[in-house]
Amino acid sequence: MKKILLSCLIGTALLTSPLSLLAKPGVTLFATGGTIAGKASSAKEATEYKAGELSVGQLVAAVPALNEVATISGVQIANVPSGDIDQQILLALTKKITDTLQRADQSGVVVTHGTDTLEETAFFLDLTVKSPKPVVVVGAMRPATAISADGPMNLLQAVTLASSDSARDRGVLVAFNDRIASGFYVSKTNANVTDTFKATEPGYLGSFVKGQPWFYYSPAQPSDKPFFDVSQKTSLPKVTILYAHQEQDPALLEAAVNAGAQGIVIAAAGNAAVPVRANAAIEKIMAKGVPVVLSTRTGNGYTSMRTDGSRHGIGSGIYNPQKARILLMLALAETRDMDKIRGYFDH
Ligand code: SIN
Repeated sequence: MKKILLSCLIGTALLTSPLSLLAKPGVTLFATGGTIAGKASSAKEATEYKAGELSVGQLVAAVPALNEVATISGVQIANVPSGDIDQQILLALTKKITDTLQRADQSGVVVTHGTDTLEETAFFLDLTVKSPKPVVVVGAMRPATAISADGPMNLLQAVTLASSDSARDRGVLVAFNDRIASGFYVSKTNANVTDTFKATEPGYLGSFVKGQPWFYYSPAQPSDKPFFDVSQKTSLPKVTILYAHQEQDPALLEAAVNAGAQGIVIAAAGNAAVPVRANAAIEKIMAKGVPVVLSTRTGNGYTSMRTDGSRHGIGSGIYNPQKARILLMLALAETRDMDKIRGYFDH
């Protein structure tokens, strides 16, 4: 796995006059890898390729129009498929973004990322970066070498969004396939197609019209969005996800705890449903002080626990399993109080 940290001022911006540099907003691009930086052996190839091959400099050089929109700086945080994004990368990213956004010459930042776990990083950043300036997460479904690669246009739109005053005070945004979505709500909904990012219930926040962001509503933030200050954290508690199904093996819950999990999320069936034997295992694990959060494997909806106490665990509320895992990691980094943890999920 390649993990590199380097910083540079990129592209033709250096060659333009100081006056025109001042006129353009500053945008820092944090590159982490993914398909947007992916390379295949043939232009026809959209599935057999290597993610995280192009550097941040190469990404920017491939879209000269970026330099017409903003003065771009590039930071290579990592160059990995997004399945390899870990808490160390997330913590580094949030700290560097926070520092960057404090600079008067920076209008916003863009994070390039693999699409597979993009929603987890976008959600994490939304809960840990406090700034009115836009943080825009972007990726691509087709590698940079493909015919009709979607990365260059997605990147141009992301930089345009990060440069725009209309994107302020809206939390983390995802720019993808001509649409603008909330990083808090959006999910990858299709393994292959370019319009994969959707927020089924809340919908999109806007789209791009004539190359510019067009928001449907005035700035707003997700209801009850918590903030976690991770500026002093060097690690986060381990939380793992298990999948519920007929004949689910309750021993895997205990195995997760033995492997070091300090919290567990279950992608349960329907509204937080697990088999009776798994319910009994959850009761035991919760009694040891390890929170078990029950989300839903259905892809949408709200999960809640029965008030008669017959089901154990914490309902994940609106959070899907992967977002519930991020939230539980952050909650556990703050407190071990089960009621407080429940409060982060229970709206
Ligand atoms: C990845 O998530 O790194 C690979 C898939 C993608 O970026 O579309």
